[in-house]
Amino acid sequence: MAAAPTQPEQFRGIPNIAEALRQQGYVADREVATAIHLSVVLHKPLLIEGAAGVGKTEVAKVMAQAIGTDLIRLQCYEGLDVHTALYEWNYQRQMLRIKLEEATGRPVEEKEQVIFSEPFLLKRPLLQAITAERAPVLLIDEVDRADEEFEAFLLEVLSDFQVSIPEIGTVRARHIPHVVLTSNRTRELSDALRRRCLYLWIDYPSFEKELTIVRAKVPEINERLARQICGFMQLVRTVPLAKVPGIAETLDWSAALMALHYEHLDPGAVEETLGCLCKDQEDLVRIRAHYVRPILDAVDAASGDGWTPERVGQLAAQLPRAR
Ligand SMILES: Nc1ncnc2c1ncn2[C@@H]1O[C@H](COP(=O)(O)OP(=O)(O)OP(=O)(O)O)[C@@H](O)[C@H]1O
Ligand SMILES: [Mg+2]
Repeated sequence: MAAAPTQPEQFRGIPNIAEALRQQGYVADREVATAIHLSVVLHKPLLIEGAAGVGKTEVAKVMAQAIGTDLIRLQCYEGLDVHTALYEWNYQRQMLRIKLEEATGRPVEEKEQVIFSEPFLLKRPLLQAITAERAPVLLIDEVDRADEEFEAFLLEVLSDFQVSIPEIGTVRARHIPHVVLTSNRTRELSDALRRRCLYLWIDYPSFEKELTIVRAKVPEINERLARQICGFMQLVRTVPLAKVPGIAETLDWSAALMALHYEHLDPGAVEETLGCLCKDQEDLVRIRAHYVRPILDAVDAASGDGWTPERVGQLAAQLPRAR
């Protein structure tokens, strides 16, 4: 049996997890910290879903940094096959060895045994994670992009943490990795995969959460500008857009405004930097034509109030209707 991962010191208890992630620059609300806690305690993979740019992948990265262990990343895409994910034989090295062995009189079976042994394996992410010396964080990123057959194979690996290599035998995990899967929901994942995982949904951040993130990631920003940016983001996300901006866009936009020495938001500043938060041509045209000024007016009007979801709803209701 593989050794279950011991609970890392930094991850004892939900407040400690939130603090450990904060030290790595990740703002984790209680839901996120609780999901990580349960995933670590129950040794279950954590499946994270949410819109683009809300901080799914980052969870795995900061977990690894916080625990001080390796991050092993398997980036999924259409057509990803088992060999790319698990292992391949190092053909060049095998060929070289065959050449070197030519002169020796060793029986063919023996030669085969040599070239199909562990030193001739190229370990890909899943095998790396299984054979790691200490429990790594295994990030299976954008699993929805992989094919269903690959998902079925993943299920096997995630249930047993062992793989069978015909020429070598069964390789069992020395330490069960901390597994994080992310999905953007481009297709539905199977029930079987969901059942095997704990689930975390990351929504677009509240005003307060996003403000905390901006302060943490762009510390030199002035408070007024940071609040205006976060208010703008709350409202722009209520507009029907092809690509709703995530936290990545908020951070890029903040950095761009700082680089251009803007102290506060005005129509000129927004116009000039709109490409940082709008990544779609039609969205760009629509926001420029109909929303920049109304949103800025709403942000100014709301500056003294709190940005509760109800308040965001009221302000959004006053924006022009989608065309
Ligand atoms: N809670 C957070 N605290 C600090 N930074 C965050 C947080 N959430 C997101 N970010 C920042 O936002 C950016 C985008 O995050 P990330 O890449 O994890 O998003 P994602 O959900 O995986 O997006 P995609 O679906 O496009 O892959 C990163 O630069 C990350 O640092
Ligand atoms: Mg991601």
